[in-house]
Amino acid sequence: MTENTNHRPLVFSGIQPTGKLHLGNYLGAMKNWVRLQESMPCIYCVVDMHAITIWQEPAELSAATREVAAACLAIGIDPERSILFNQSQVRAHAELAWVFNCVARMGWLNRMTQFKDKAGKNRENASVGLFIYPNLMAADILAYRATHVPVGEDQKQHLELARDIAQKFNNDFSAPDFFPLPEPFITGPGTRVMSLRDGTKKMSKSDESEYSRINLSDDANAIAQKIRKAKTDPQAMPDSKENMASRPEAENLINIYAGLSDQTPDAVLAEYAGAQFSAFKNALADLAVAKLMPIGEKMRSYLTDRAELDRILADGAARARLIADPVLREVRERVGFVG
Ligand code: TRP
Repeated sequence: MTENTNHRPLVFSGIQPTGKLHLGNYLGAMKNWVRLQESMPCIYCVVDMHAITIWQEPAELSAATREVAAACLAIGIDPERSILFNQSQVRAHAELAWVFNCVARMGWLNRMTQFKDKAGKNRENASVGLFIYPNLMAADILAYRATHVPVGEDQKQHLELARDIAQKFNNDFSAPDFFPLPEPFITGPGTRVMSLRDGTKKMSKSDESEYSRINLSDDANAIAQKIRKAKTDPQAMPDSKENMASRPEAENLINIYAGLSDQTPDAVLAEYAGAQFSAFKNALADLAVAKLMPIGEKMRSYLTDRAELDRILADGAARARLIADPVLREVRERVGFVG
């Protein structure tokens, strides 16, 4: 991108500390974060300030923040090579978000579909924070002048808004290349993981059925049980993509297998074409246990050493400030703040 020629490539992504992390979070997003560390500098942020746009019990918020941080470490985010921290420790996010509240237009935010979904019918009672949530997200990214933002489909609109904010700030303050225009970064085939009870719905932390999802903290028994009980149709395994297309539950399990074994769905189809589902489920249960148990164990061990976990987050926050503070200093000058 020509707009970003003066900005060094930098990845920024955020994850909310709400609810338990599940296989969909892992295969859909977090696994790619691990791979990205090899090719670019990366900043990963547990966005606790975004979380409170919807009511969070304080004790649960701190527990979830630590749990998500532990999961990031457990899956292989390297806290020395990358920067891992929780958002509220770095004041630059809030400070830049305020400036962006004054750059972004009401009309832009009124178009955000996620606000409409989350606020629902009770819009008058939604927090103001929920409405301006995308401005804080833009601040997260631009406080570091990040150029690449791995996000799912549902966040693309917010990222476009971040680009609009960057562009308007650059124009308003006569600083043509001050902020980069951050790009959504889709890194290889992130798996869209669906509910184990209904192959047409996304796997979600808010589904009432525990059997719809596999949590990263599940033990081996729970993982195997949930896979064996996963909904399937009565036919044998499909032998081609076409044959799989109208069978969402089969497709989901094949995609999960592919994601966990780092293969393409085609390779998995070729291996299991025509097999009985029970045999495939056994293989998938073994694979899922083998891949997820070490993650769960590492998470638990990080969570038992809270001092060490908190030290890692504080260290990440200190390194994040070293990047963001000079950017904020320049923002203050450009805006005309004294001091
Ligand atoms: N809004 C994102 C989500 O709900 C989380 C997020 C916050 C984020 N700040 C970010 C993602 C900055 C990417 C970059 O998934």
